[in-house]
Amino acid sequence: MKADLIIINAREIATLKSGGKPKTRSEMSDPGLIMNAGLAIKDGKILAIASSEEIESTYSWDEAIDATGKIITPGFVDSHSHPVFVQTREDEFAMRLAGKSYVEIALAGGGIRSSIASTRAAREDELFELASERISKMMALGTTTLEAKSGYGLETQSELKQLGVIDRLNKSLPIEIVPSFMGAHEYPAEYRDNHEEYLRILTEEMIPAVAEQGIAEFCDIFTEAHVFSIEESRRVLRCAAEHGLKLKMHADEIEAIGGAELAAEMNCVSADHLGAASDAGIAAMQEAGVIPVLLPATLFSLRSKTYARARKMIDSGLPVAIATDYNPGSCNCDSMPLTMSLACLQMGLSPIESLAAATINAAFALSRGNKCGSLEVGKQADLIIWDIPSLNFIPYHLGSSHIHRVLKLGKTIFREA
Ligand code: NIG
Ligand code: FE
Repeated sequence: MKADLIIINAREIATLKSGGKPKTRSEMSDPGLIMNAGLAIKDGKILAIASSEEIESTYSWDEAIDATGKIITPGFVDSHSHPVFVQTREDEFAMRLAGKSYVEIALAGGGIRSSIASTRAAREDELFELASERISKMMALGTTTLEAKSGYGLETQSELKQLGVIDRLNKSLPIEIVPSFMGAHEYPAEYRDNHEEYLRILTEEMIPAVAEQGIAEFCDIFTEAHVFSIEESRRVLRCAAEHGLKLKMHADEIEAIGGAELAAEMNCVSADHLGAASDAGIAAMQEAGVIPVLLPATLFSLRSKTYARARKMIDSGLPVAIATDYNPGSCNCDSMPLTMSLACLQMGLSPIESLAAATINAAFALSRGNKCGSLEVGKQADLIIWDIPSLNFIPYHLGSSHIHRVLKLGKTIFREA
């Protein structure tokens, strides 16, 4: 049989195979290891995973990669990011170090609102170039599928412009970029005292326009005490669901206001952050099958003393996922390996659990669990070839990359220099 590419002699392949569902409880500790193995790849998909001898004797090939001594894992699925903006906000980082909180900065006109004017004024090309450079760095760090949100326009044309940029990024970069509409990221300054009018614009203008253009797969919302209340969030999410968008929420990041419970009520695909989620919220998410996407780098960057209760979630049977939350404000982190380190150190995941959370469970958080996130026959050949002694080494070495090569759909998209 003919393959386009074979990869042989890997010391270990961590398949993260999951049998078509997200990993829960002790399944998260099983990396699905195959020793001394190889893969055959055709048309971007995995034809076989077997011993190197079997691969070499069963297939002919156009190209072969010798992975002697290397470890192979699935590519990372970064299921939560905000990469389309103009200016970075490192001064807020310094303000937080000087004692101001994220919410204080936001209420004083900084935070998300301070990213709006420049995003509105920017040309599409400028936003495209900036985001493209940022996403290239993520690819070098092993990300092969990325979710990207709008939410720095907060007016119909600017939100559509951001989603247009995300669409162009998806078409021109070699990784898959999944678009989420997040017009409900904040109340823009002009509607600060007139929430009703902005909610009307969201539900009567923005969501219908986004749905009509077919330009977003998910609708996300920042449900938090200082932004969208539970009642306001329910209105927006209902409208988005009626327009055929799948749902995500930024829920209970800082305060437990019932965001996790609402995510369950609305059948969100994922609820993200959950730093303060209540016991009832966690139970409701479990019942409804909502995936918790935890963002440890954000709470780290906000200097939080507390983190999402990942261990309780795993013990309750929730398929915990992790993501970077890359954005200009609360968390300027583009690295899934560093996110794994923080998930281990600050939330108590084991290294293998953090790998499952960054790959297969994250793929389910993007409704792509049947396409990517694990190395199984028929799935996409999205993988990382690592120069590491063992899987535990990935989160153990903080902030340094040991990635030898990254492949998306069987094509090399990054190679170590
Ligand atoms: O996920 N929480 C809301 N949105 C981002 C922050 C974005 C910003 O500060 O610009 C987040 O943390
Ligand atoms: Fe976010």
